[in-house]
Amino acid sequence: MSETREITLTVNGTEETIEVEPRRLLVHAIREDLDLTGTHIGCDTGNCGACTVLVDGEPLKSCLMFAVQADGSEVETVEGMEDHPDAVDDLHPLQEGFHEEHGLQCGYCTPGMIMSGKALLEENPDPSEAEIREAISGNLCRCTGYQNIVKSIEYAAEKLADGERDDAEAVAADGGVSSADGPASFDGYDVDDDGEFSCGVENCCGGPSTDATHRGDER
Ligand code: FES
Ligand code: FES
Repeated sequence: MSETREITLTVNGTEETIEVEPRRLLVHAIREDLDLTGTHIGCDTGNCGACTVLVDGEPLKSCLMFAVQADGSEVETVEGMEDHPDAVDDLHPLQEGFHEEHGLQCGYCTPGMIMSGKALLEENPDPSEAEIREAISGNLCRCTGYQNIVKSIEYAAEKLADGERDDAEAVAADGGVSSADGPASFDGYDVDDDGEFSCGVENCCGGPSTDATHRGDER
């Protein structure tokens, strides 16, 4: 066995340090060293896309990358989708879309399709059908004929847009202060003897401003 190297990856938000041989492929490190078997291996030669994960936000075929090349990177796999802030009831809108629109049959390609879909929607929240087809062109599906996969990603795009709209409406209804972001008990600025402003909010901007934290609360 050849020498190993220690690498550190942030996988679905958790820092992981593992020992790998320099020749170990990222997909094998993910599946065997980190036990995240949602990432599939279809061909091991870069053709099928079943092993697609996001590395620093970019969709990459993890069978085409050595684990050591990902040292220090953020890696996202399908297992992280349910904990994503956009997930509702344990399912990310993309996962829900594949369920609702019947975007899978055997499911072998699905984790890779979902990760390619996620990368697309983060860059282009309202893609056309052609843009979706282009984004998943490196992911092969032997079962579905792709039409329902496209519909699944369209479903997720719509759901994510609805969520954004709901958030914006909630902020507007709250006088421009999101209940998630705004101070619950902000009761005015104090000015100390040195003329410094303080509102009592930790890490505050330091005084009256148009910062969203205070908008609507200035008195
Ligand atoms: S297993 Fe990586 S592209 Fe097929
Ligand atoms: S659902 Fe079977 S390969 Fe895509």
